[in-house]
Amino acid sequence: MEKSSKISGFYKKTPEERLQIVSNFCDLNEIERETLRNTGSMNIDLADKLIENVISTMEIPLGIATNFVINGKDYLIPMAVEEPSVIAACSNAARIARESGGFVSESTRPVMIGQIQIVDIPSREKAIESLMLKKEEILKDSNTRSQTLSKMSAGAIDLEIRTFREIDDMIVIHIFVDVRDAMGANVVNTMCEHVAPVVERITGGRAILRILSNLSVRRISRSRAVFRKELVGGSQVVRNIVKASDLANIDPYRAATHNKGIMNGIDAVILATMNDWRSVEANAHTYGHVTGNLSLTKFEEDRNGDLVGSIEIPLAVGTVGGTTGTVEKAKINRKILGVQNSSDMANLLAAVGLAQNFAALRALCDEGIQKGHMSLHARNIALEAGARPEEVDAVVEAMLKEGSISRKTAEKIVWDMHGK
Ligand code: MEV
Repeated sequence: MEKSSKISGFYKKTPEERLQIVSNFCDLNEIERETLRNTGSMNIDLADKLIENVISTMEIPLGIATNFVINGKDYLIPMAVEEPSVIAACSNAARIARESGGFVSESTRPVMIGQIQIVDIPSREKAIESLMLKKEEILKDSNTRSQTLSKMSAGAIDLEIRTFREIDDMIVIHIFVDVRDAMGANVVNTMCEHVAPVVERITGGRAILRILSNLSVRRISRSRAVFRKELVGGSQVVRNIVKASDLANIDPYRAATHNKGIMNGIDAVILATMNDWRSVEANAHTYGHVTGNLSLTKFEEDRNGDLVGSIEIPLAVGTVGGTTGTVEKAKINRKILGVQNSSDMANLLAAVGLAQNFAALRALCDEGIQKGHMSLHARNIALEAGARPEEVDAVVEAMLKEGSISRKTAEKIVWDMHGK
């Protein structure tokens, strides 16, 4: 019989029942089923409450980046990531930066933007005029949706109206909301949906989208650090890094890779604290469209010949709300980080992004990354070839001795080791 992925009521079943269905669909064996049943420290019932159609959980290694000094304070930074060399590189960059005082970070007020798209407007000019007259009323109405923010003198603080050359019977209203320590998506979406009918009445148009913008141009973090030339690898490496950074700012093909390197670090902390990394990614990668700078960082040589790195990045991260407070390990990671609020968290993330980017550029602008990368990658190859965790180092060493880091070589070494 043809297998079908159309499964009636799949969402209503228990995780075990779903596992049986999946198992029949693709012939999982008992060992594979048992592996999926093992959900580590996250109870399957909790997982089943967090998302839909759950059958298991997915583990990812958690490591600690060391050496960080940010705004004069020492931090140990939990990072969840599957890519070798990210945490080693990040710690190494922080070690170099701490020799000159570490990272100096700052963040703006945590203001998010909610968008309301109004179409079929009879008169754009009249709509704008009426909206401006009723601005305070709209803000006041939005603020009825969050007592907590209102009490903190936060919440909806301003609005702007955007028009588009291409479509003249449409406007987009931006509501600016100070969300304090939350990421803010929930409260902003609630406010947008709540005031949309009011806005429809004022403009005579029809509201379609009523949703947060993931581009948080009013929630920006900056970090800066000095990397001494003798610790970077000398003046030539410093100048190479400056030139590499200049290229990233004007060439989208390089900017994509350069910024990916920054996000290697930031995403790993975001994941360790169970924040929304898709939103952090979307935010970062769209920012260049607003500033005209394709790269999120800049590197310059100072009067002493040392390297000065800086980053400016929109960061919408919460320390309250979402999944950050429901998953035990995320809570423990927050405790390790020791950040008190979303602004501290954003300051830390900006420093991590800058450190990660510096580490990648330093390797690329000196000996290249493949040498370091390949010896770390070799560990993965050894595992794939069947080495037990306690045998990995020996297999890697043997591969390096043979001058061949490949699956075939690893399999042969493992084969000999296991006496087969
Ligand atoms: C690899 O994950 C990240 C790098 O490609 C970043 C970069 O090229 O700057 C090394």
